Amino acid sequence: MRDKFVIKGLNGKKTLSGKIEVNGAKNAVLKLMASSILFADGIETLGIPKIEDVKRMAELLEDLGAVIEPRKKGGFYINTTKLNKSDLNRDISEKIRASIVLTGPLLARFGKTSFPVPGGCVIGARSVDFFIDGFRKMGATAVFQNGEYQIKAKRGGLRGAEIFFKTPSVTATETFIMAGVLAKGKTILKNVAMEPEIKNLADFLISCGAKIKGAGTPVIEIKGGQLLKSKGRKYKAMPDRLEAGSFLVLGALCADNLEITNCVPEHIEILIQMLKDAGVPIKVGKNNIKIEGNGKIKNKDFKINGTIKTKEYPGFPTDLQAPMMMFLTQATGENLVFETIFEGRLNYTEDLVRMGANIIMLDPHRVMVKGPTSLRGREVESPDLRAGLAFVIAGILAKGESIIDNVYLIDRGYERVEERLKKIGVNIERVSKN
Ligand code: EPU
Repeated sequence: MRDKFVIKGLNGKKTLSGKIEVNGAKNAVLKLMASSILFADGIETLGIPKIEDVKRMAELLEDLGAVIEPRKKGGFYINTTKLNKSDLNRDISEKIRASIVLTGPLLARFGKTSFPVPGGCVIGARSVDFFIDGFRKMGATAVFQNGEYQIKAKRGGLRGAEIFFKTPSVTATETFIMAGVLAKGKTILKNVAMEPEIKNLADFLISCGAKIKGAGTPVIEIKGGQLLKSKGRKYKAMPDRLEAGSFLVLGALCADNLEITNCVPEHIEILIQMLKDAGVPIKVGKNNIKIEGNGKIKNKDFKINGTIKTKEYPGFPTDLQAPMMMFLTQATGENLVFETIFEGRLNYTEDLVRMGANIIMLDPHRVMVKGPTSLRGREVESPDLRAGLAFVIAGILAKGESIIDNVYLIDRGYERVEERLKKIGVNIERVSKN
């Protein structure tokens, strides 16, 4: 079944208003689910978004022999004590990149694992060399055979090691934190990613007995030990900063008054700063962000000039590059957008050009955007989940009707986003095609 969204655009009017709530963070929850393999008992989770990637991760764990039971408040219980294999299911792994984080805990617990080239969004090359090199440093052997990597630890299991990453990688950092928790001795990870989801994972593991120091900084030290015990401690998903950021851009362009609730503003400080500097009336609370009296400001009065360069946290997130592009098409100014993390993550701009945006591609990493431009509704296909949500924003801004195809990709990361958008006044319908 391929669903699509049909959106009736506001033609640049800023009529949306109300409150919109942010859900639990996909990129935190998926890793937490993988970490269940490090536990001698089960773990209970709260506030897990009902999104496609979470379903795929649950299927992967169940395929390995895990027991997963639903619990109240969107949570579930995961118990991996009866895992009966350590090889990742090929079909499911090819659907989500996050599948790769399972390899760290599997290898550390069972001494072997195998996995195919992981799938996920088509946003660039997305190599796995850091994983293979890191496992080798921890004493494992790695071979690529029949389309799969087969990794085996030496007898006696993984050994702690010092691993320096050439580029900070989110999933590699998380994988090696988890591998380090059950490895023998000390693991030191250098030049790691500092995204808040990493600290969120480490904090939960620490609360269950893991010895991890430095999560959220460029160097992390892990002292390996026994399986962890949750002893009934519950993991509550942190709010999704990327969802919050996308809603903030939507509010800036299409809302009079909007309150984004259940978020951690500090996690998107760079976006808030840029939008404030451009003239968006933003008020930051402890767990909410408000846009107030925005209706009287015209989008073309927002001024933004310079370069937006995606960077690892706390720099400008690559996952918010597409929503920010929408802002640049509406504000006044000429800007260079430099996507430094993934080389395929600007291709969606072709569709924005078809909608009327003035965007020139300079090379796979850089585009020039000139605003303001009016957008016309069109039929477009969601290329990945973040750009998919940017297309939804484009459809809301545009004149006339837009159709966003391949909503599955948006559902991978956002739980029934159309229902939350309707509540703030967006005219959006999900149409299911069989
Ligand atoms: N890289 C390598 N070799 C590796 C691993 C990474 O060269 O073995 C490179 C990548 O090609 C890239 C850079 O390192 O140029 C950083 O990529 P990273 O590994 O951090 O990306 P990721 O861990 O695969 C996670 C998120 C992405 C998010 C990026 C960047 C998950 C499941 N995915 O991916 O989220 O864009 O970090 O912040 O956590 C999304 O949610 O839509 C999404 C794509």
